[in-house]
Amino acid sequence: MKVLITRRVPEEAVRKLKSHFSVAHHDSSTTIARSRLLRAVRDIDGLLCLLTEKVNGELLDAAPKLKIVATATVGVDHIDLAQATKRDIPVTHTPGVLTETCADFTWALLLASARRVVEGDRFMRAGKFKGWDMLMFLGTDVYGKTLGIVGFGRIGQGVARRAKGFGMKILYYDKIRAGLDTEQELNAEFVNFDRLIQESDFITLHTVLDETTRHLIGKSEFKKMKKSAYLVNASRGPIVDEKALVATLKSGVIRGAALDVYEFEPKMVSGLSRLPNVVLAPHLSSASRETRKKMALLAAESLIDYLIFKKNPRYLANPECVSLSRPTPLRAA
Ligand code: DGY
Repeated sequence: MKVLITRRVPEEAVRKLKSHFSVAHHDSSTTIARSRLLRAVRDIDGLLCLLTEKVNGELLDAAPKLKIVATATVGVDHIDLAQATKRDIPVTHTPGVLTETCADFTWALLLASARRVVEGDRFMRAGKFKGWDMLMFLGTDVYGKTLGIVGFGRIGQGVARRAKGFGMKILYYDKIRAGLDTEQELNAEFVNFDRLIQESDFITLHTVLDETTRHLIGKSEFKKMKKSAYLVNASRGPIVDEKALVATLKSGVIRGAALDVYEFEPKMVSGLSRLPNVVLAPHLSSASRETRKKMALLAAESLIDYLIFKKNPRYLANPECVSLSRPTPLRAA
């Protein structure tokens, strides 16, 4: 059987796949060209992709033998799950293994923006530091402030767990309220979205991207935030109206922001990179050596479990496609 890996991934996952499959590998740090991808999927049984490949009806039609898609990401907004399900193709993703790493990075962004770490770094490198100045690069205290967490799944809860050490008041909003035990353990209060954005000093976003969360934060939401608020987005770019964010940061409607993701990733909207009060990272939240290895291995194991051992894979993004009561719904090749 043949699998395709669409991009450079940790070597351990490639080795694992090679011990079971014939492997085609676009072993590059750049995205595979669409036309090449569509050609490369023609004879594959399994696909290991990243968030840079759009797995839609067009791609699935180009892959008549494809039996499973394993994305080495937790987010699945690059995959048309309905189209995959329609073709009885299970899609697996990698929740769990990146939770703590992403929560850490959210905090890295939050602290970097509140305490102006990146501005200070640039200042030092430019040789501008001429001695201690009491009023230089004044930031904002984090300790004891109010943190508003939008999306209270694994990562959002990981962010809340860390916030306890900062003595923060924790508000959260999600479509589904967490259990009382979780709320008590994390000292987190479930509030409506409006209250969260009005009362929080720091707002972090951890929701999935779908039609209900696209531009969840736009001009009118910014207006409701405190003038001293900071927004951190380490989920998906289109959740924030990036053009509105630029206008907001420019005119001081909120104090700062930190972004790991972009509405038109990898591009940024005009003006964003010129603003001093925004910290910008190139989609790094899960980017630790340990976690990226776990993500890639988990995706590889999903392909092996399903295609070789005929097991239902763990972490299905479209569980309706593979019924656990059915042995293994492999499509005819
Ligand atoms: C994911 O896994 O969805 C991330 O955005 C990549 O780290």
